[in-house]
Amino acid sequence: MKKHICVMPGDGIGPEIVEEALRVLNAAAKKFGHEFSTEEALIGGSAIDATGTPLPEATVEACKKADAVLLGAVGGPKWDTLDPAIRPEKGLLGIRKALGLFANLRPATLFPELAGACLLRPDIVGKGLDLIVVRELTGGIYFGKPAGTEVRDGKRTGWNTMIYNEDEIARIAHVAFQAAQKRRNKVCSVDKANVLDVSRVWREVVIEVSRQYPDVELSHLYVDNAAMQLVRDPSQFDVIVTGNLFGDILSDEASVITGSIGMLPSASLGSAQPGLFEPIHGSAPDIAGQGKANPLATILSIAMMLRHAFDMSIEADAIENAVHKTLQAGFRTGDIMEAGKTLLSTREMGDKVIASL
Ligand code: IPM
Ligand code: MG
Repeated sequence: MKKHICVMPGDGIGPEIVEEALRVLNAAAKKFGHEFSTEEALIGGSAIDATGTPLPEATVEACKKADAVLLGAVGGPKWDTLDPAIRPEKGLLGIRKALGLFANLRPATLFPELAGACLLRPDIVGKGLDLIVVRELTGGIYFGKPAGTEVRDGKRTGWNTMIYNEDEIARIAHVAFQAAQKRRNKVCSVDKANVLDVSRVWREVVIEVSRQYPDVELSHLYVDNAAMQLVRDPSQFDVIVTGNLFGDILSDEASVITGSIGMLPSASLGSAQPGLFEPIHGSAPDIAGQGKANPLATILSIAMMLRHAFDMSIEADAIENAVHKTLQAGFRTGDIMEAGKTLLSTREMGDKVIASL
């Protein structure tokens, strides 16, 4: 069956890494006899430069008619001083909302080949580090109203609202429990129920939903404790489910402790197609255009796309195996370089993965 993919290279290293990922996708298509068509759309800073807005209407339309969306990265110092209403990040938040992508899956796994890069002591990660953060992505304090800034009593004042209703909580909880059923049957829900009202509703609803998944063990942590436990003993976690802001923070923490943030993919899914697939890392403007970027997280995002959007798990496994083989053969980009390994450019890394495939 022919699948159509909307591709948004975005800013910084986005175009370089997306190009390699698409070359790998084409190689996989050939190998397995699939047909994928692609169409490019603007987002973020490059969209601001071309059209004056970070999320042109044409981009939303192109995404909506696609079977899946691939994103590179958005943002950069060039656009940091713009009015907040048209910053590159608004493009990303806007497309998540427009496509109803309420579930953000961010796996954090230790690549055995890169164990030396892990930020934690060997005795800590010796027990394993293989978890997934399921972050609610279209609600919470990111989108809650009221929000704004004004001068109140002569003082500049800003405010946001952290708000969730039971339906928003229940649907992300279902995603987490179902993800756990395909993994190690454990969900840890993270909140701040000792302080926040919104978290008390969160916890109540998660507990109710958990009754439909008696095979899954549910635990709860306050977000400060969760941040600490992630570095103290990450092996205790299988699936972490949490709201938008806590998930933003904890998913950065979970991915960086693996030592290979340049390696980790993510998926954002709604209740219908298309889902959006992107690397966890950002646009790395300091190395953009130099052929130094690591394309593996984007290549692995293609694998997530094949698995989650197209039900092509054999094809997804093949890409993931090709990445492992490439690492086992000692090939590295600068971000994961170690003594005795072979340093490759972005393009060369794409070539090696294709050859392993
Ligand atoms: C992320 C990013 C975004 C977020 C920014 C760029 C708006 O940090 O995807 O985690 O906060 O969601
Ligand atoms: Mg973030």
